[in-house]
Amino acid sequence: MDWVFFIVGAALVLFCFVQLLFWTSTNIRRHVGERGYWQLQRQLLIAKIEATEAQRKSAQNSGVDNSGKSEVESQNSAAWRGWRKFRVKRLHRETSNATSVYLVPQDGLELPEFKPGQFLTLRFELPNQTSPLIRCYSLSDGARAASHYRITVKDVHGKPLSQGGVSHFVNWQWSVGDTIEVKAPGGDFFLDVSKKEPVILLAGGVGITPMMSMIETVLQRGDRRDLLLFYGLRHGGDHIFKDRLRELSKQHSNFNVLNCYSEPEKGDVEGRDFHFQGRVSVELIKRALPSPNFHFYMCGPGPFMSSLFEQLIGWGVPEDQIHFEAFGPATVKGASTGSQSVAVPATTDNGVKCNVHFARSKKVIEWNDGDKTLLDAANGNGVPISSGCRAGQCGSCQTKLLRGEVMYPNGQPHDVEAGHCLPCVAIPKLKSGSNGEVVLDA
Ligand code: FES
Repeated sequence: MDWVFFIVGAALVLFCFVQLLFWTSTNIRRHVGERGYWQLQRQLLIAKIEATEAQRKSAQNSGVDNSGKSEVESQNSAAWRGWRKFRVKRLHRETSNATSVYLVPQDGLELPEFKPGQFLTLRFELPNQTSPLIRCYSLSDGARAASHYRITVKDVHGKPLSQGGVSHFVNWQWSVGDTIEVKAPGGDFFLDVSKKEPVILLAGGVGITPMMSMIETVLQRGDRRDLLLFYGLRHGGDHIFKDRLRELSKQHSNFNVLNCYSEPEKGDVEGRDFHFQGRVSVELIKRALPSPNFHFYMCGPGPFMSSLFEQLIGWGVPEDQIHFEAFGPATVKGASTGSQSVAVPATTDNGVKCNVHFARSKKVIEWNDGDKTLLDAANGNGVPISSGCRAGQCGSCQTKLLRGEVMYPNGQPHDVEAGHCLPCVAIPKLKSGSNGEVVLDA
């Protein structure tokens, strides 16, 4: 009998030992998993970066030109000039207040490729509006040749159309079959797909749209380039492209997404719907990246971008490695540094005056330092000049310059016809020491 007790006792001891081992290893794994999550992410990223770098060097050594300049330059080659009629082919609700719109050209001809990150300019001619309303929306689909373009519009203010809420109109009143005039894709904010280095994408709310285009484009091409997206949202109700992003990150090991909810709602589950509670910040980014030496692309509300721009600069990210979409009158840099995004003419400091004459409206105003651009001056004085991007990129505000000279404090825009100017980014240029005058055909 003794040997039976002995065997049972030994079995019990062995069982307890195995249980203890299992419990210990589970706990260790859990702790290591939690505490080491970021270290693993970092190591993974560093390894991927080294591999990408090695690949690039070996391609250079073997004489392969990876600059891809001609490829990038060839994009947009088939773009059209002026306005082209499109039709709404499909509407897809992404969230309770954001809709994707699929647009096809009325002429049925092929659409040119665009660069991922670029936008469309749309001219809405709507009943009860005395003049067309122009708006710019980022393309939200992959930048490949296709029969349609897709934009995704969030009802930002919830304003009815009578109060100028075009995004409200698009979300609630646009129907399949409606027509709209559209300018060819444009804009300087885009991802150069010929490059191979990892990219960090920072999106706030509906600012995900150009990022979505970049992600889809890189992954559709089968590029192994690493993409890491930090996506800032209030809660799951705002989460545009949630399922698609999750699906892409599962399918592609080179794409990772970290969702940050600042105000998660009851049904939002950490680990399932979002990864971090709080806003996207450099402190968070630092936990995932080994150094500031990356290219950052960001798009979102003004405060989101200006705050992140400042934080990235503070961390040591070179300014030319921060790329952003900046629709609106103030630039990200200007807002973040406190410097004026648009300089005023130096000569006003010396008591020199400049009159701005709006010929069609028969109005003459004195330029003052409070007007950051000629468009501000026009709008502030009831002079109608249409505008879209307000950043010198869509050409919607182009106006004939009848007399005088203008200057562009943030750099000469690419596409201005001779004898015209872009008032959204222009200010009067004065000769030192003498009063001046600018005459616009507006
Ligand atoms: S509003 Fe787009 S260029 Fe002026």
